[in-house]
Amino acid sequence: MNLFVNGKKITTSASLTMRLVDFLRENLELTGTKEGCGEGECGACSVIIDGELINSCLVILGQVQNKSIITIEGLDEPEISAAFEETGAVQCGFCTPGMIIASSVLLAKNPSPEENEIKKAISGNLCRCTGYTKIIEAIKKAGKEKQCGTSN
Ligand code: FES
Ligand code: FES
Repeated sequence: MNLFVNGKKITTSASLTMRLVDFLRENLELTGTKEGCGEGECGACSVIIDGELINSCLVILGQVQNKSIITIEGLDEPEISAAFEETGAVQCGFCTPGMIIASSVLLAKNPSPEENEIKKAISGNLCRCTGYTKIIEAIKKAGKEKQCGTSN
């Protein structure tokens, strides 16, 4: 089967029932995608599939034939990463790749989200360290900075 990961065409004979999170981490060594719960509850395994935020632990290879997948390694979002660092939204960092992926999907659709929209957008991403306040602050900041970047 074929799929596209971070813009690169991948042809694989891996089992179509293999979970996408395992394929990314084990076969492609893209270990920025984390596995937390394995049950679709924590968002640590978030990736973007054809523009949508998806938990890669809930997807098998057979479902992503010819689809385009973006992982944290292929995401070009310097403003979001910088905002997470600058606001202290990264503590242990385990949730961070998934949070940044979720933020990217949100800001692509809505560059200046209200706080309730941010909360909704990251509601599938659990963080046990930060209490979310700093993450919300980071997403607001990243949205502003991305807008400045596009108006320059
Ligand atoms: S590992 Fe996929 S949602 Fe938790
Ligand atoms: S920073 Fe530790 S789980 Fe979010």
